[in-house]
Amino acid sequence: MSHAISSHPCAGLIGEIFVPGDKSISHRSLILGGLATGTSHVDGLLLGEDVLATAAAMRALGASVERLDCGRWQVTGNGLGGLHEPEDVLDLGNSGTATRLLMGIIAGHPMTAMMTGDHSLRSRPMQRVITPLEMMGAKFVCRSGGRPPLSIIGTADGRPQSYTLPVASAQVKSAILLMGLTIAGETSVIEPHATRDHTETMLRAMGATVTVAETPSGERRITLVGQPELQATDFLVPGDPSSAAFPTVAALITDGSDVTIKNICTNPLRFGLFQTLIEMGGDISLLNPRTIGGEPIADIRVRSSQLHGIEVPAKRAPSMIDEYPILAVAAAHANGDTKMQGLAELRVKESDRLAATATGLRAIGALVDEGADSLTVRAGGNFRGGATIAANLDHRMAMAFVVAGMRTAQPVTIDDARTIDTSFPGFSALMNGLGARIETGLVSA
Ligand code: S3P
Repeated sequence: MSHAISSHPCAGLIGEIFVPGDKSISHRSLILGGLATGTSHVDGLLLGEDVLATAAAMRALGASVERLDCGRWQVTGNGLGGLHEPEDVLDLGNSGTATRLLMGIIAGHPMTAMMTGDHSLRSRPMQRVITPLEMMGAKFVCRSGGRPPLSIIGTADGRPQSYTLPVASAQVKSAILLMGLTIAGETSVIEPHATRDHTETMLRAMGATVTVAETPSGERRITLVGQPELQATDFLVPGDPSSAAFPTVAALITDGSDVTIKNICTNPLRFGLFQTLIEMGGDISLLNPRTIGGEPIADIRVRSSQLHGIEVPAKRAPSMIDEYPILAVAAAHANGDTKMQGLAELRVKESDRLAATATGLRAIGALVDEGADSLTVRAGGNFRGGATIAANLDHRMAMAFVVAGMRTAQPVTIDDARTIDTSFPGFSALMNGLGARIETGLVSA
């Protein structure tokens, strides 16, 4: 059997859905729970392969991580500094987040560990994490270009640092703070552009002191007081806005749609796509806003809308970094041009998403200009579809082009949809339940 799927043009999408738990918060709940003293519980954990890779790695490092019959997860740590050296290479599959966060954890323990992953992960740059963690006292050996497989020699005698991030990255920030947990004194990270702050929020909930201040030049300085007594905590993982992005755009561009996506994390540092779509004229409303576990949550109602093109400023990129491929699909159906700037980081995600978005959109008939770090999607495309898109082990590219196929004359095929399970298991069935026509389990010719 082939692993291809085909998305056929469809009528309006109607219904109320839940999308899987937030990937960023899921990784962090297993990692932080495994560092605490005692037992933490996690409800709503994403059962995606990326998070399951983190669960397996935390077990290999000596934490107990179990799924209870009721679906709840139970994580028991040995207290800060209590992890042990893994016996074998840690295989983190497709997950850059798991790799970078765990590099920070291992760097602060006196152990040696090796990491690898799939072809996509083995091409991702890790030097951005290695540089600050080496300044703090750990050592690394990796392939050329700072790529995995890599080895980490951690230390119990780390040095606190104040480090300015050269690129906006929540993963790098988190790795530094996580190593800082095991180091006496204050570890600071200075962010030129604010990135998702789940690590900070969750550490505070566990009893750590994490403060945020503005530097004289207007940057954000996050300071952690090292060696806190981390308390086991119960985490409730909200729905992932990066996953909600796909049904949201599908509903916007498909006539006659009215979809409500329940229980989504609306943290402003994650919400740039929704802000952008509203500016483009999208009929999106946030219902029943509330706060759970320090995170703002709401139900998102989306109705089909005629969008118009806008300029998306570079400074918005950190709050929607994973959402540009699906925004580009929405932009292809807008009146007028949409220019997205500040996209250099897209080139080092699970695939080169800037190139893949431009190539894929052109293949289905959209008009696109790709710059070094920008993308312009022009109005006036002829959405013929009828193309096969290579997913290149990138879940978000696969899902973006499934959504694109809902509005093309001929179906759009994704060559290998297995990768979708890294972040959104059940994606095709959920979308089909709303009225999409995604054909899975295609028989190869
Ligand atoms: C993530 C941060 C982002 C994002 C990734 C998840 C996180 O990566 O692209 O999907 O959970 O911290 P960068 O930190 O590399 O921007």
